Amino acid sequence: MTPVPSDSALHRQLRQATKRPHHVLDHHPLLAPLLRPDLTLAQYGNALAALHGIGQAAEVGILAFLAQHPQPFDYQARLKVWALEADLAALGRQPLGLAADFPVPQNVGGLIGVLYVMEGATQGGLMIARLLQALPIAPLPTAHFSVYGSTAAQKWAEFLQFADEQATPEVLDTAVVTAIGVFDAITCHLDACLKQLGADVSVCEPA
Ligand code: HEM
Repeated sequence: MTPVPSDSALHRQLRQATKRPHHVLDHHPLLAPLLRPDLTLAQYGNALAALHGIGQAAEVGILAFLAQHPQPFDYQARLKVWALEADLAALGRQPLGLAADFPVPQNVGGLIGVLYVMEGATQGGLMIARLLQALPIAPLPTAHFSVYGSTAAQKWAEFLQFADEQATPEVLDTAVVTAIGVFDAITCHLDACLKQLGADVSVCEPA
């Protein structure tokens, strides 16, 4: 088993730089209900329908970059959109389309920035899956939030190790800027989804 890297400078900087935008996301009106004991099926479906556009844009961008610039990093085992689609189908819901510009990796720093956000989200997803399974409305389809199953810690460690091995100062700078851009794009997209779902909110400019 790959050892979990110590709290590397790269990981510290990525976590620190995205602390505030992560806080904004986990308090977003589309995602915050996931943590509440009175979560409804409609709220759960809304959250998954909105997350689909982001997951798909990230997956397409990552796969396109890796096809052009192969890296010692296995992404095939990390595909997640299939799980989101299985959950949506089980709920009888359709995905909402992507409603913001989503950063596409142009270099290894950009790849690490996008991967940090999307792979990191699976860590928070584990906690969400545990809460969902204990709700009065359980059982819920939770393939997406528990997509890595028992390999989640190992996959996170392997991502951090890959990122550490690439981390020149330039790569790190690009990764941090990209990760912040990904968080901002997700917030913008979720705001637009909220509006599509009928909420009276002002949103950032959609793509
Ligand atoms: C699309 C939405 C989200 C994204 C992109 C996202 C992203 C991330 C990232 C990048 C990390 C890794 C932080 C690190 O470096 O250690 C993380 C961890 C975490 N997130 Fe989120 N997150 C999202 C939604 C949420 C929500 C709604 C919650 C619920 C409150 C949440 C709770 C957590 C928790 C508890 C951790 C720490 C997990 C651990 O240390 O085991 N996240 N998330």
